[in-house]
Amino acid sequence: MPGVSPTANPLLHRELIFVTGKGGVGKTTVAAGLGMALAAAGRRTIVCEVGAQRRLPALFGHGAGAPQDHAPDAREVHLGERLWATSIDPNRALREWLATQLPSKSLVELLTRSNLFQYFTAAAPGARELVTVTKVWELAQAKRWEKRAQPYDVVVVDLPASGHGVGLLRTARTFADVARVGPIASQAGRVRDTIEDPSRSAFVAVALPGELPVTETLELEDRVQRELRRPVDAIVVNALLPRRWAAADLEALEAGGDAVPAQARRAARSETARTKAQQAQLGRLRREALAPVVTLPFVPAPTLAREQVAALGDELVGKL
Ligand SMILES: Nc1ncnc2c1ncn2[C@@H]1O[C@H](COP(=O)(O)OP(=O)(O)OP(=O)(O)O)[C@@H](O)[C@H]1O
Ligand SMILES: [Mg+2]
Repeated sequence: MPGVSPTANPLLHRELIFVTGKGGVGKTTVAAGLGMALAAAGRRTIVCEVGAQRRLPALFGHGAGAPQDHAPDAREVHLGERLWATSIDPNRALREWLATQLPSKSLVELLTRSNLFQYFTAAAPGARELVTVTKVWELAQAKRWEKRAQPYDVVVVDLPASGHGVGLLRTARTFADVARVGPIASQAGRVRDTIEDPSRSAFVAVALPGELPVTETLELEDRVQRELRRPVDAIVVNALLPRRWAAADLEALEAGGDAVPAQARRAARSETARTKAQQAQLGRLRREALAPVVTLPFVPAPTLAREQVAALGDELVGKL
């Protein structure tokens, strides 16, 4: 990885890296880029989507037409050297967990056939979220639920948008507190401990450089501290415009008279105004956030290709 000593970068030694932020800010891009950079640095890495999302295989050219990506048992899809992607299916995850708890396979089969999840979720609201976050945690455990499965060194989690993402992680603590004793309490407690331990997991917030997104990111940082009892490790300001026009260039443009087309002058003015506004918000975030703030540039492309996502990931890990 350019410019990075693998031992110096704290993200390289975490089991779980959570990525969240508002809708559309670049969460999936950042998660995928981080995953690629970590795999390149020698970590056995899996990027994990939750909810019904399944964007990663497509980004890696495993898109439509590859039947294994759509089959219900397409779990950990191999995308490249030391790099996998998965999308959590809570029903399957619950079945796998039960198989580690129950004495016989036939009992698991019986419960599964009886539409188990409906009963479970009716009895305990939040059960689906608990199973999801527990499955995410399981991917990095030395002893996997399925005996033949290999653990990952690091799981990069593309969480749902801010509030939902924190809520999802919060279910581990809620269940550990409510259940208190028994297998669910101890399992949820282990997941909670990993989520809340900054030496084992990392929390990355992604934001765009605007007034509202910056305010919301500051609120998110507060919420992570309150509800997950841990700090945000890094805030990524994504898609920052370059400062293309130096003051002297602008003055020259303004002074150019008729030699400079009016359109060019207008474009330069408007881009300068946008850049200024972005820089002001970036400055505010840097002053008010507790976490370090790093930036990623705006990449002018309708959709980012794998190489562009990889370059953003390298840049990010180099800055952290
Ligand atoms: N730095 C960047 N420069 C240019 N385009 C970007 C950049 N980062 C992300 N994008 C593009 O912005 C769009 C949204 O990015 P992405 O899907 O990663 O966001 P998201 O937060 O995961 O969205 P959602 O909330 O819908 O899951 C995508 O088309 C992506 O290619
Ligand atoms: Mg996404």
